Amino acid sequence: MQIPTPHIGATNKNQIAQTVLMPGDPLRAKHIAENYLDNPVLFNQIRNVFGYTGNYKGKPISVMASGMGMASIGIYSYELFAFYGVENIIRIGSCGAYTKDIALFDVLLCEDVYSESSYALAQSGNTRNVLKASAQLNKIITQATQEKSMPLQVGRVHSSDVFYRKNAADYEQIRDQYHCVAVEMEAFALFANADLLNKNAATILTVSDHLVLHQAISAQDRQINTKAMIELALEAGIRM
Ligand code: HPA
Repeated sequence: MQIPTPHIGATNKNQIAQTVLMPGDPLRAKHIAENYLDNPVLFNQIRNVFGYTGNYKGKPISVMASGMGMASIGIYSYELFAFYGVENIIRIGSCGAYTKDIALFDVLLCEDVYSESSYALAQSGNTRNVLKASAQLNKIITQATQEKSMPLQVGRVHSSDVFYRKNAADYEQIRDQYHCVAVEMEAFALFANADLLNKNAATILTVSDHLVLHQAISAQDRQINTKAMIELALEAGIRM
C-alpha cells in the first residue's frame, strides 16, 4: 500500500513517531497534542480523525484518534502499523466496570481481552477469542505506575461489539464465563493487528461507568480524571 493511505493523510513516514497513543475521541487527541506535547504538528485530519506528532520530555511521540469500535480502530491501527512503520500503539480509553472490585475513576491495564468479535477470524483466520497485550509494553507501563506510586488495576477486559444489548444483563454471563473485569470496544482488534504484524499494543482504560453499581462519571470529571492515564501513557510511550 502506498502512503498516504485511504484514511491517513501523512505523505511521509517520518511524520509519525514509532509510538502512537490512541484515544477514541479526535478532540481528545487534539487536547493531548496541544496540552502535553511540545511543537505538535498535525499529520492527519481526514474525517476529522486528528493525528499529531510532537515531543514529550524531548522524545518524539504521536497521538491519533481511533474512533469507536473494532472496525474503526482496526483500520487506523492497521494502517499505522503496516504502512507507516509504527511499532507501538497504546490505546487510552474508557471502560465500564463489571465487578465491585473496580471503582469509577480507577485506571485499568488490560492484561488480555476476550471478545465475541469476528474481527481476528475474518481478518486472518485467527480463531482465538482471547488476545494478549504486549508483555513488553505492559511491563513498562507497570513500572511507570510504580515510580509514580500510582494505583493500577490489571485484568482481563471484554472487548465488545455491542454497546446497547437487547438484554442489558447479558453482560453477567460473559463476565462470569470469561472472567472479565470491565468492558470496552476496541482492544481486541488492536491486539489482533499487533499479533498479525508483529507489533506491540497495549490498552489503558479509565473506568467511566459501572454496570453493577449503575454509576457513571460526568463528562467534566472524565476530562480531569484522564490526566493520570494520559501522563502514564506518555511516560511509557517515550520509554519504548
Ligand atoms: N460498554 C462498552 N464500552 C464502554 C462502556 C460500556 O459500558 N463504557 C466505556 N466504554
